[in-house]
Amino acid sequence: MGKLLVTGATGNLGHLTLELLLERVPAEQLAGLSRAPERASDLAERGVDIRQGDYLDYASLVRAFEGVDKLLLVSALAFTDRSAQHFNAIAAAKQAGVKHVIYTSIQRDEELGIVQVGVTESDVFTEQALRASGLTYTILRNPMYLDHLELYIPPGTYEKGLRVPSGEGTMAPALLRDLAAGNVAVLTQEGHENQTYTLNGSQAASFREIAAVLSEIHGKPVPYEPVEREAHLQSYLQNGTPQPVAEFLTAWVAGVGLGAFSKSTDDLERLIGYRPTGYREFLEKNYPAIVPPAEDKAALS
Ligand SMILES: NC(=O)c1ccc[n+]([C@@H]2O[C@H](COP(=O)([O-])OP(=O)(O)OC[C@H]3O[C@@H](n4cnc5c(N)ncnc54)[C@H](OP(=O)(O)O)[C@@H]3O)[C@@H](O)[C@H]2O)c1
Repeated sequence: MGKLLVTGATGNLGHLTLELLLERVPAEQLAGLSRAPERASDLAERGVDIRQGDYLDYASLVRAFEGVDKLLLVSALAFTDRSAQHFNAIAAAKQAGVKHVIYTSIQRDEELGIVQVGVTESDVFTEQALRASGLTYTILRNPMYLDHLELYIPPGTYEKGLRVPSGEGTMAPALLRDLAAGNVAVLTQEGHENQTYTLNGSQAASFREIAAVLSEIHGKPVPYEPVEREAHLQSYLQNGTPQPVAEFLTAWVAGVGLGAFSKSTDDLERLIGYRPTGYREFLEKNYPAIVPPAEDKAALS
C-alpha cells in the first residue's frame, strides 16, 4: 500500500494533520513535504518520512510523491503564485502515480461570486485543475481559522470596541485542530472521493455577536461599531501593516459583511464525528489571555 503524504508538514495545518495521523496510522505509512526537511525533524524522529520538495520545482515534487497513494495538498501562501504552485503539485502527483489528491481551499459562495484578494482566483483555478486532472479528488473548503481571530479583534478592542467592516454578516470559523481532524478523516476513510465539502466550526456568528461575548468575558460593554472598508484599511496602515497584508486582512472581514462565509454547513462535524469548537468556547478559553482586560494589565505589569 502506498503512503499518505501531507504537504506543508512544517506549517500549522500540515503539522497538526500529521500529528493526528500518527495517533491512528503506523508512522511507516506517513510522509510529509517541506522545502527544508530539517525543519520537520520532530516528525522524522517519530518515523514520518519527510521528503524535500518545493511547489516551484516540479522535478522535486515528482520525486517526493513517488510511492504515495493519497496526497493532502495544503494550499500555498497568499502573496505568492498559488495557481502555478498548485498546478505543479497536481501535475506532479499525476506523473508520480498518486491516486487521490485532497486540496485545502477557502470557503466561498459561488452564487455571490465574491473575490477574496490573494486566494479566490487561485482556489477556483486549482479546483478546476484538480477536477480536470482525472485524479480522484476531495476539495475541503476551509473557513476562517478561529486560531487567527485575534488578527481581526486586535488588542485594544476591550477599550475601543470592535470596529470591523462586517455589517451583520456571519461566519462560522473553525479551529485548526478540528480542520486537521477533518483532513485525517478524508485521508484515512473511504467515501470522500470526488466530493467538495465546506468545513465550519459549530457556531455561526456576526461580529456583533462576537462583541456581545467579549462584553460578557470583559464584564463591561464592548460595543460593536461597523465601519467602512476604507476606514478599516486605513487603520491597519496607520498601525504599520504593509499595504498588501492590510488589503488581504480587510478583504476577509469585508467578505464577512458581504456574506461570503454565511452559508455554513455541518460537513466538518460529520467528517470528524464530534462537534467542532465554536467561537464562544474559543473566546471564553483564549480571549482573556490574548487581550487582558484593562484591570488585569495593571496586575500583569
Ligand atoms: N482559512 C484561513 O483562515 C487561513 C489562514 C491562513 C492561511 N490559510 C491557508 O492555509 C494554508 C495553511 O495554513 P498554515 O497556517 O498551515 O500555513 P503555514 O503555517 O504558514 O505553513 C505553510 C506551509 O507551506 C509550506 N510551503 C510554503 N511555500 C512552499 C513551497 N514553495 N513549496 C512547498 N511547500 C511550501 C511551508 O513549508 P516549508 O517552509 O517547510 O517548505 C509550510 O509548511 C496557507 O498556506 C494558506 O493557503 C488559510
